[in-house]
Amino acid sequence: MTAIKYDLIKKEKMTKARLGVLHTPHGDIETPVFMPVGTQATVKTMTPEELKEIGARIILSNTYHLYLRPGHEVIKKAGGLHKFMNWDRAILTDSGGFQVFSLGPLRKITEDGVEFRSHLDGSRHFLTPEKVIEIENALGADIIMSFDECAPYPADYDYVKNSMEMTLRWAKRGKEAHKNIDKQALFGIVQGGTYDDLRRECANRLVDMDFPGYSIGGLSVGEEKELMYHVVDYTTDLLPQDKPRYLMGVGSPDDLIEGVIRGVDMFDCVLPTRIARNGTVLTSSGRLIVRDAPHAEEFIPLDSECDCYTCKNFSRAYIRHLFKANEILAARLATIHNLRFLTKLMEDIREAIKQDKLLEFKSQFYKKYEYKEE
Ligand code: GUN
Ligand code: ZN
Repeated sequence: MTAIKYDLIKKEKMTKARLGVLHTPHGDIETPVFMPVGTQATVKTMTPEELKEIGARIILSNTYHLYLRPGHEVIKKAGGLHKFMNWDRAILTDSGGFQVFSLGPLRKITEDGVEFRSHLDGSRHFLTPEKVIEIENALGADIIMSFDECAPYPADYDYVKNSMEMTLRWAKRGKEAHKNIDKQALFGIVQGGTYDDLRRECANRLVDMDFPGYSIGGLSVGEEKELMYHVVDYTTDLLPQDKPRYLMGVGSPDDLIEGVIRGVDMFDCVLPTRIARNGTVLTSSGRLIVRDAPHAEEFIPLDSECDCYTCKNFSRAYIRHLFKANEILAARLATIHNLRFLTKLMEDIREAIKQDKLLEFKSQFYKKYEYKEE
């Protein structure tokens, strides 16, 4: 018995886009889907009810952060992450592979695992692929990630090759340590940087190990967008049609459209929630820095096409005022809007796939989206 089941509903005529349903122990998810990020068991500023109203079906959380604080044992005692944070829809946990490697001088990588110092209190820790799965088993998310190394960009061929091979060995070790296969689906992560032959090698060997889903990691780390799109396009061709594909850490509106066109089913990114707290919102005509002076007397919604709570009830002028006055509500209202904007974008993308009109949708989207950014 596997924890999740992916139904491929249809493939779009002109692109590699796929319409699907991901069945999880905490509900069904229509794909392609964008997953809001709740690093510390909270999507910053949002209650679970608000996330549901936005239309979120699955959120992401981080093993690294929850292991350090409050500790996976605490969350296990609470009855798991779903109960702890009162979220009864699906959760995906990332493995910490990305966070630990971003620590720079605070960490040391060996074949066995990664030794690092906590960014919170400097305490020393050692994470192995087995330990990460033990933590993820304790957290109890519906979908969990293997421990991997996200190689930096740029990195030379030999570095990326060795790193990718270690990631493969870690994926195997994690799979063997995974205790809870009927409740939690463990994904393998394709690494290999921007080298096609390494991506191919990694994807082929992960597919041989037969994971219930595959992530594409190591992207959006500083490479040109066109290069990222190429790697995504190349990699999805190597993955089985009957399993979900997840492009990690990617989620600007244009990247979502380009990723879907290249056959990606799942995305996550801190972008919408992070920029919201800084006073920037996503709209159908591009990014809008609502905190800026030009909006001081604009008594219109952030985006006139948006159906979110914020846009139905408040003006740009009011939200700008809240940001200038450092009021907490500013961050909440902007977050609701940005998450709804991306969730709605994915709904529209799924509808366009249904009608085999994704390329038309893309050109319509770009016509408006770029217009105002100039
Ligand atoms: N988030 C964004 N990129 C990555 C990656 O390469 N690995 C992991 N584990 N998480 C990510
Ligand atoms: Zn809105």
